[in-house]
Amino acid sequence: MCGIVGYIGYNDSKEILLKGLEKLEYRGYDSAGIAVINNDGVQIFKEKGRIADLREAVDPKVEAQTGIGHTRWATHGVPSRTNSHPHQSASERFTLVHNGVIENYDILKREYLQNVEMKSETDTEVIVQLVELFANEGLQVEDAFRKTLTLLHGSYALALIDEQDKETIYVAKNKSPLLVGLGFGFNVVASDAMAMLQVTDKYVELMDKEMVIVKKEEVTIKNLDGEVINREPYTAELDASDIEKGTYPHYMLKEIDEQPAVMRKIIQNYQDENGELEIDSDIVTAMNDADRIYIIAAGTSYHAGLVGKQFIERMAQIPVEVHISSEFGYNMPLLSKKPLFIFISQSGETADSRQVLVQVKEMGHKSLTITNVPGSTLSREADHTMLLYAGPEIAVASTKAYTAQLAVLAILAEVTAKSRAMEVPFNLVQELGIVANAMEVLRDSKEDFEMIAHEYLSTTRNCFFIGRGIDFYVGLEGALKLKEISYIQAEGFAGGELKHGTIALIEEGTPVIALATQKFVNLSIRGNVKEVVARGANPCIISMDGLNMEDDRFVIPEVHELLTPLISVVPVQLISYYAALHRDCDVDKPRNLAKSVTVE
Ligand code: M6R
Repeated sequence: MCGIVGYIGYNDSKEILLKGLEKLEYRGYDSAGIAVINNDGVQIFKEKGRIADLREAVDPKVEAQTGIGHTRWATHGVPSRTNSHPHQSASERFTLVHNGVIENYDILKREYLQNVEMKSETDTEVIVQLVELFANEGLQVEDAFRKTLTLLHGSYALALIDEQDKETIYVAKNKSPLLVGLGFGFNVVASDAMAMLQVTDKYVELMDKEMVIVKKEEVTIKNLDGEVINREPYTAELDASDIEKGTYPHYMLKEIDEQPAVMRKIIQNYQDENGELEIDSDIVTAMNDADRIYIIAAGTSYHAGLVGKQFIERMAQIPVEVHISSEFGYNMPLLSKKPLFIFISQSGETADSRQVLVQVKEMGHKSLTITNVPGSTLSREADHTMLLYAGPEIAVASTKAYTAQLAVLAILAEVTAKSRAMEVPFNLVQELGIVANAMEVLRDSKEDFEMIAHEYLSTTRNCFFIGRGIDFYVGLEGALKLKEISYIQAEGFAGGELKHGTIALIEEGTPVIALATQKFVNLSIRGNVKEVVARGANPCIISMDGLNMEDDRFVIPEVHELLTPLISVVPVQLISYYAALHRDCDVDKPRNLAKSVTVE
């Protein structure tokens, strides 16, 4: 969370920084700020709120060729102008932006900074005050910066400028993502390549506990012992048009609509020249060597993991456990003898998942990351990676990444099953093609979902999603989608579980969205609907063609019953989207959230 940028070159930095921050706004949008340095010294512009507010606050007359910027997701201290970055040292010589959490900031404050009056409530301010303290004690700035880094516990991506030297940006990274972008006569810093694609597509990855001295013509990476590290740059394969909204009112709607194309792209990328599905043979070996698979993920990716368990167990017959990453690290279950860990993460940066990866690597276990972002932390650090090929997902609410995760998990399960000479219930390439076509039908039925949202959700305080079997997992995802963007209290429940307590919440008119795509539980889920209707609920049954009954509110096209989550999730995505729209919510940037959750 939080996004940082930096520019040093021969052009005015303000616009480059602001544009970069706009691309990073998905990482947090509580407040934003930039600091630029020229012959008049350092000038800071910062505002509570969005980058658009910051843009208004920036003085267009100020010109400066070096600058740093930040968009914040508050952890320590409320979202406010005072707590927003950049932060300055007591004398205002040093100015800093930070993404991450300094866990020992209070100890450092007590130990080193008792005589310094803090201006903000943030953990970040400690860093910039320490640099000044050590510089005042006589250290060169680079050494003062390095000494400060050695004292920090926690996560950080940092960019620091010194009022006495407008030719340098000091940068460092630990756990939080950070890249240095290379140009001719300029260099940049960014949390994500997307931010600086406007000026360069050449990037150098940074590893944890590295610092970088960034100048216009030169970038020097060092470890914390001061040794220089040489690393080749790579070209970011991102198309700038992928990150534009085009004619869509919201990224979320664009990304929902992209799902059929994503399905086709995934098929293409995982097919060999004979049209057979293919994955890296080392991954197949890792799957076959495992006596149990542990899927680790958060939020929507966790919900994808629950469906993935069904795919892997039913097709490849390897036992699978699915765990929430923030719990797993602190409450590790008894592991099997030969576990394989699968990390599912759209961003590949989720700190909760990463802390598990670090732990299991230390224990010597094998790992596979399924992610949308090549080169992301979880991808780099795991033994193997499978990419989602979904294209950048910008809306905070995950949509196309979820369906891409399901498709890739199905491919993983199918290829593994075949390698074990197990019978696979279908031709997956064909079935994913059918899924893509069905998604197109749903895409063209938006008016129905808009109507459902209006009818069921425009005034309600709460809503339930129920399903049985694999439909239950889609219900969990539906509830997450609805609550995160419309702020309606929503819960996903196993149809049979409601009567064990939660049914007490059903009142006259409570919307209950029921999914009925599984033949073997079609009658029982309908029985559960009757139970809630008898208590006043307003039911909305979404069923699959062939299983539909009178009064069902929407019938989705038929796909193989194991793959229904790829389809049944689309109506709940669209219903959530329209519910949020009707309530005038900020669909792409819901309150209190950020796209990439890089704090534990
Ligand atoms: O990038 P990740 O897939 O690891 O992110 C995990 C969750 O933060 C994410 O899925 C979140 O739940 C979504 N915003 C939900 O739409």
